Amino acid sequence: AVTRTFSIIKPDATRRNLTGAVTKMLEEAGLRVVASKRIHMTREQAEGFYGVHRERPFFNDLVSFMISGPVVVQVLEGEDAVKRNRDIMGATNPENADAGTIRKELAESIEANSVHGSDSDENAKIEIDYFFKPEEIVG
Ligand code: CMP
Repeated sequence: AVTRTFSIIKPDATRRNLTGAVTKMLEEAGLRVVASKRIHMTREQAEGFYGVHRERPFFNDLVSFMISGPVVVQVLEGEDAVKRNRDIMGATNPENADAGTIRKELAESIEANSVHGSDSDENAKIEIDYFFKPEEIVG
C-alpha cells in the first residue's frame, strides 16, 4: 500500500550542503517528498520529539546535536514508505550500514548519522503530526 513516513535531514547533512544529495537518494528509492521545510529546532521541540529516548545515556548529546544547526523535516510517500525509507537510510551506525545507503555513503557517526526515519506506521503518524499541519502536506 502507498503510505507515508517522516524524515529528518540532520544538521551534519545540512551543514555539508547535502540536502539535495539526501533527497535525491530518497527519490531514487521510490519515495516522493509531499511536504518539506527547513527549521532550526528549539531544545524543547527536540526533547519532545525524542521523548522515547529520554532515559538513554546519549539523550542530552542527541538533543544538543539536533539543535546545533538547521534540519529539513519531510513527509515522504510511497509503497511501504516506512520500510522503503529505512532500507535506503541504512543501519543507525554508518559503520554497520550497507553500501549504497544514505548513512554508509554520507553519515559521519552514529550521532551525526545524516537522517532520521520513522520506525513504524504508528510513529510515522505521530512524528508527521508533530511537525506538520494537514494543509502543509500536498500529495
Ligand atoms: P534516530 O533515528 O534519529 O533516533 C535516535 C538517534 O539517537 C539515532 O538516530 C542516533 O543518531 C542517535 N544516537 C546517538 N548515539 C546513539 C547510540 N549510542 N545508540 C543509538 N542511537 C544513538
